[in-house]
This record gives sequence, C-alpha cells and structure tokens, in this order.
Amino acid sequence: MLEKFKSRIVSAEEAVKVIKSNDTVYLHANSAYPTALVNAMCARYKELENVKVTHLTTFHKAPYAVPEMAGHFTHVALFCAGNVRKAVNEGRADVYNVFLSEIGWLMELGRMPIDVCMLHLSPPDEHGYCSYGVSNEVSKTAAENAKIVIAQINPKMPRVLGDNFIHVSKLKYIVEVDEELLEVPMVDANASEEEKKIYQKIAEYISSLICDGATLQMGIGAIPDAVLPFLKEKKDLGIHTEMFSDGLIELIDLGVVNGEKKTFLPNKVVSSFVIGTKTVHDYIDNNPIIEFRSSKFVNDPVNIARNDNMISINSAIQVDLSGQVCSDSMGTRIFSGFGGQLDFVRGAMRSKGGRSILAFPATTKNDTISKIVPMLTPGSGVVTTRGDVQTIITEYGIADLYGKTLRERTKLLINIAHPKFREELEAKAREFKWLW
Ligand code: COA
Repeated sequence: MLEKFKSRIVSAEEAVKVIKSNDTVYLHANSAYPTALVNAMCARYKELENVKVTHLTTFHKAPYAVPEMAGHFTHVALFCAGNVRKAVNEGRADVYNVFLSEIGWLMELGRMPIDVCMLHLSPPDEHGYCSYGVSNEVSKTAAENAKIVIAQINPKMPRVLGDNFIHVSKLKYIVEVDEELLEVPMVDANASEEEKKIYQKIAEYISSLICDGATLQMGIGAIPDAVLPFLKEKKDLGIHTEMFSDGLIELIDLGVVNGEKKTFLPNKVVSSFVIGTKTVHDYIDNNPIIEFRSSKFVNDPVNIARNDNMISINSAIQVDLSGQVCSDSMGTRIFSGFGGQLDFVRGAMRSKGGRSILAFPATTKNDTISKIVPMLTPGSGVVTTRGDVQTIITEYGIADLYGKTLRERTKLLINIAHPKFREELEAKAREFKWLW
C-alpha cells in the first residue's frame, strides 16, 4: 500500500519544512514520541519564531524546551512530566490545567487549534491503515483536527487494535525510520526495602476492596503497579483504564483478568496508551484482547460508569483534613497534571458498586513531610474536590470519606496519617473547630 504513496516519503528534514513561524505543533506522546521529526524541527530553530510545541507525557529530552530555544519554540504542557518540569517552573513554558477527557473536545471545538501534528506510527497494513501503536490518548483526535499531519513510520511500532488507526492517505509526508521504542519501566527501581514494604501494605488494603468481577483503572505512579501482584487470587477482573504497564500482563496470562464480567465492552482491555518496557510493547502487538481508544472515549466519566463495580486507583501529593486532593503541584510549583484522575473518580462514583481510591504513603522525604495536612500548601491546585473524594488509603489504613461530615473526615484522615504527625494534625483541627 505504501507504494501508492511513495511520492510522500521524504527525509525528516524535508517533512518538517511544513512548520512555519507562529504555528502550533502537536507531538505524539509517551514512547510514540516522533524523535526524528522533533530533531529535524529543532535543527531548524534559527528559521522559526514563536512556534508553540504541545504534548502530553513524553520521556525524551524535549530539546525545544531548553533556554537556548527562547523566542523560537515555546512548550505548552498538556501534562507536566519530568522532561519539561524545569521549563514550566522557570517560567519558560506554559501548562494547561485540563482533564484528559476534555482535551479532545477542546481540539474539536477549535479551542486548541493545531497547525502541524507529528506522529509516530506503525507502517500501513494491506488496507493502508497505520496504527497509533503504543499511544492513542489525544493524538488521534489531534491528527483528526490538525491542518497538516506528518508521520514517521516504524516497523518496530506495534500494531495495536481498537479505534487506533489512521489511513496513510491522511499523511502529508511520511518519514521511514527503524528504531527501538523508548522503554520506561514503571516499577520504582530506586525504591528502598522500607518503601517497598509501604507499597505492599497499601496494595493489600486496596486489594481488600476489590471484589471478583470488578473492572479496574490504574493511574500513573508507583502504587497502582504495586497493587497488581496482590490480585492473583481474584477472579474475572476487567480493565477500563487510560493507561497500563508491564504488571498487567501476568494477570491476563493467569486468566485473572479476562473481562468476562465487564458490563461495557466485555472481554476487552480498554485503554488509550501504555507506559512500559519492550515486554508490554510486544504484548499489545496485534493482541485481540487489547482495545485502544482515544482519551475522549476512555476517560469519559459516562463511559467509565457503564462498567459495574468500577474501581479507580490513583495517587496524590497532598490531602487536607476536609478531603481536598492536590495531585498536580507542590504549592505553586507544577509537578504533573490532572491526567484522568477526576475523570475516573467521577466515573467510578457513578458506577453500580463502584469506588474511587486515592492511595499514597503517609509521608515523603524520609518521614519528614506528612502528605495529610491541615491545609493544602498555598498555591496547590485541587484535582479531586472534597465533593468528589471517596476512599483514601495509606499504609496506616483506609479512610472512607464518602458521605461523611467534616468532623468525621477529619478523624478518619488523622487515623491514617503517620503517627508522628497525628498530634499536630489534631491540634490544628481543634483550632479550626473541625474537632471539639
Ligand atoms: N511534599 C513534598 N514533596 C512531595 C510530596 C509532598 N506532599 N509528595 C510527593 N513529593 C515528592 C516525592 O518526595 C518525590 O520526590 P523525589 O522524586 O525527589 O523522590 C516526588 O514528589 C514524586 O512523588 P511520588 O510519591 O513518588 O510520586 P508518584 O510517582 O507515585 O506519583 C503523583 C504521584 C500524584 C504525582 C501522580 O500520580 C500524578 O501525577 N497524579 C496526577 C494525575 C493522575 O492521577 N492521573 C491519573 C491517571 S494517569
């Protein structure tokens, strides 16, 4: 099929000539980052002014976000990952505060216009369809709404099934590459023995709330992946999640995850991207159980709620005694993004038998900082409001805040804080008249 579009095959240097000053350029995310195209774009920096570069999480170097690119490129983060965090917090890059489920709508409404969309795809099949591979998220919607789409195609990009394809005729230019995808292990390799024990304790509490037949979402961070080994004794689990990693494979292989009891898209692992190693990239290749769809669909709280017994598992940076959850910043310092946290909290809340879980170690920085605090640090953004919050878990237990009063929540949260901070938390709560 590529034969028919031979005239569109060009070098990366040629392809990126479509970018003009003042354009907005969208980049494919995660391990589908289009390295050759980005490098060629950055090599042109002297010819370009005021180009906005926007994308979700990537793990590559982000050469357009370094200080020398000022005036040529400005990054605008849809999720502030480690590679762009410095640029955002030094005031050289901007950031959207947006739910993952909404980004596609903003693109469709023309509120997030895209001039050039740069993708990293599998080669076209015999019908001319290229797969978005390891990462659909908002990239498919971006391509559908961009003025120009250019792509690097790579035989090493898995062909992942679902609503996860673009026809080769939609690509203005095609750049052929043959490169390994970046591997991003989710398991925290640097975790100490003590930290691992804490993750295990938290995972046991989470596991105790998951019934056979439940459908799971696991968010980003160390905890969601730590839960998976504790689910081996469960039966007939299903998956409806914005992302997953290597840890899920064993549960599918064991038959623990089979999707048979799912009430929405049964027998399918519904997701929109993976973050992981070659093991998971190979696993999802042409695998009929995997159903990749856009975040607009997967993260829509209405679709999430169509799964009975939907359990969402996410993490947080700080929680105040009333249950307000900050997950994307440390005070005014932006750390990550909304991602799909509230999408899944709300979807799980509306699911029959569903529950949203936010789990995290009670402290950080060697027990010097409590993550449960009387008040959020000034400048912190609330991702999950106290009206949405349900279940909070630390290594000290489970606080079920749903339907509880301010006083009841305060007590429950102090009970799962690290013991060394409980007295201080209680004193503050009394000062606020939240305890008496
Ligand atoms: N005060 C100061 N520092 C804090 C802190 C706090 N309250 N909480 C965390 N940190 C620091 C940690 O010490 C760690 O620092 P280090 O990198 O120097 O060791 C760093 O922040 C990361 O913390 P950690 O707890 O390891 O984070 P994580 O990788 O488990 O991710 C979130 C947790 C909340 C950041 C992550 O889940 C997130 O971004 N969530 C928002 C989006 C979301 O939930 N999406 C859902 C699906 S993708």
